[in-house]
Amino acid sequence: MCTKCMIRIAVIAVVSTVSSSQLSLAGASQQQTLSAQALELVKGFGKDLKHTLVSSMKKDGPAASIGVCNLDAPRIAHEHAEKSGWTIGRTSTKLRNSANAPDGWEAKVLAIFAQKKAQGGDLKSMQYSEIIEKDGKKTFRYMKAIGVAKACLNCHGENLKPGVSAALKDKYPDDAATGFKMGDLRGAFTLSKPVK
Ligand code: HEC
Repeated sequence: MCTKCMIRIAVIAVVSTVSSSQLSLAGASQQQTLSAQALELVKGFGKDLKHTLVSSMKKDGPAASIGVCNLDAPRIAHEHAEKSGWTIGRTSTKLRNSANAPDGWEAKVLAIFAQKKAQGGDLKSMQYSEIIEKDGKKTFRYMKAIGVAKACLNCHGENLKPGVSAALKDKYPDDAATGFKMGDLRGAFTLSKPVK
């Protein structure tokens, strides 16, 4: 997904009062609550994106569907991010669009996912979250692994149809996101939200 698809919405600050004895407990449950919210967003975003891609492919074929991301993904991401100030995107170590390149934290988590996968971990339940502090600002960050399903092989697999290859080469001359097999780790959804 392109930079355009990254949605940033201002957060409405909520002032909460917590007694000091409750602080660490509050921190842990805050992270749990945020992780659950992030997972819901990912599920909704992933489902809509897949649905949009699959129906476009059925109607117009995979080559014509390559542009779907640029047109539909920002709208879909926006709908799912709107709720409460999240940033939603996708990233990978094997990129099609360099605008989706991972930052340092994301690269670290992608490496953790790859290692877990190599050890037999299940991509479906693979997620990671952390509250990080940068320039005195706290941010909740969350990633959820994305596996390769059958429909993805049309545009990310080993044997692409000539029309698809040509359309990809045209739009993404540095495309590194092909050659995947079913069940491979494709990348991850990446979400963040400023926290108090
Ligand atoms: C119709 C072709 C098509 C299909 C099918 C498709 N993709 Fe993509 N995918 C693309 C294009 C084009 C991009 C680059 C989008 C952009 O410019 O941001 C992309 C980008 C991505 C990215 C972002 C990282 C990157 O490389 O830029 C992920 C992750 C991804 N696809 C996963 C999947 C998964 C998982 C499936 C199957 C459910 C899938 N794709 C199916 C065409 C496709």
